[in-house]
Parts: sequence; C-alpha cells; structure tokens
Amino acid sequence: MNPILVAVDVPTADDARVLAKTLGDSVGGLKIGSQLFTSVGPSIVREMVTAGHKVFLDLKFHDIPNTVAGSVAAATDLGVWMCNVHATGGAPMLTAARDAATARAAALGTPKPLVIAVTVLTSMDAATLATVGVSASPLDQVVRLATLVKACGLDGVVASPLETAAIRQACGPDFVIVTPGIRGGAAQAKADDQNRTLTPREAIAAGSSYLVVGRPITAAQDPRAAAEAINAELTTSR
Ligand code: C5P
Repeated sequence: MNPILVAVDVPTADDARVLAKTLGDSVGGLKIGSQLFTSVGPSIVREMVTAGHKVFLDLKFHDIPNTVAGSVAAATDLGVWMCNVHATGGAPMLTAARDAATARAAALGTPKPLVIAVTVLTSMDAATLATVGVSASPLDQVVRLATLVKACGLDGVVASPLETAAIRQACGPDFVIVTPGIRGGAAQAKADDQNRTLTPREAIAAGSSYLVVGRPITAAQDPRAAAEAINAELTTSR
C-alpha cells in the first residue's frame, strides 16, 4: 500500500472532509489525532472509514489495562485500521490492548486493527527523560520499549526517523514502524517544530513501514500534488 499517512491536524469536520476529498488515493491513510477527535468526536472517524479511508486513530491510550482494553475495543468498533497506546503502560496494558482488539474484531467479524505503541515521544531528549527517572539514552529506551512491544504481540511502534534503523534491526522485518518527522526531499516544508527529520526516501530506506506526513502536505498550496510528489520520490527509489 501507499505508505503515506497524512496527519489530519485540522480543527473542524469540514476541514477534514475537504482535505480527505482533495487527497483521495494520493495517500495511503488518514491519521486522526487528539485535536480533531477532541473537537469533533468519533463521528468523523466513522465518516472517514465509511468513505473508504484507512484511519490511524492516534489517541495514544495510556491508562490501566482494563480502561485501555475498553478504549481499544471502542476504536475497533469505529472500524479503524490502526490505533495506538503508550509502551510505558507496561506488559499488562500492552497485552490487554492486543487482546481487546483481537476479541472485538472477532466478535464483529471485521479485520483486527493494527495496534502499535509509542515508545519515547520524540519531543523528549536525554535531559527530559532523566527528569522522569529514565537514565537510559533515548535510543536505548526506544529499543528496550520496542522489544517489549514486540514480545507482547503488538504489531509495531511509532518512532522517530533516527531510531527506525535500530528498531528494524532489533525487531525484525515484519514489525510495523510508523515514522513522523518527515521533511526534505519531496516533502518540502519548513522544519516547523520537528528537530530530528529524514526525507521520505531516507525514512523508507531506514526501515519505516509508513510515513506520517502533516504540514508538508496539509500546508502545501496543492496538497494532492505534494502527496503525489512524495509518492513519486518513493516509487523511483524502490
Ligand atoms: O506536520 P508534521 O509533518 O510535523 O506532522 C507530524 C504529525 O505526527 C503530527 O500529527 C504530530 O502530532 C505527529 N507526531 C510527531 N512526532 C511524534 C509522534 C507523532 O510529529 N513522535
């Protein structure tokens, strides 16, 4: 499939509709995060799923296992293609998330959503990690958590472009790695608030399965052309 997941970081349902319609099949899926979900609610997820889009529901659940299981089951009810939790919830929470997706999808007779985990937020550096009691380097912590996520039977992780190669090496070829922080190459945009970036082609070469691309597409004058240019760059490098 087309590996581009566009970050639908817009404030209203109408903005989301226009963007999804404009992009059509120039992207592989839509990432709906906490901004749109909190302002508009689950109806926009249902609407996009019904319209035939693959939706990555990026709500990063982090709670006790029972609550996360309920949230993942609810995401499965919405028909999302992928959803996520925080790896630091630990093994009991991770396995509860996995089991909830499996059980609810089986009950509905629908495909199980991919359940992936956030390892270390890319906004956290070594100093910030130390303030929350983690003395490991960000890279070591990411690989440790990715290994835990895999051992718990989840489908993959979200990771910064600079951690992708180490995760791919530790977790093998079938582990899903979703990578934001895409800038440069055909993804022309300001770095914005992204510090550690790779171009689309570099990220795929490092082992990313899917690229989360926001403003290089959404803030472009012609979002569809921007998505197609990234696709073309990836296709010619394969
Ligand atoms: O506009 P941009 O391409 O920077 O959008 C990246 C998207 O990926 C945003 O929705 C952002 O919240 C998300 N994201 C990120 N870094 C992470 C996790 C998610 O940029 N570590």
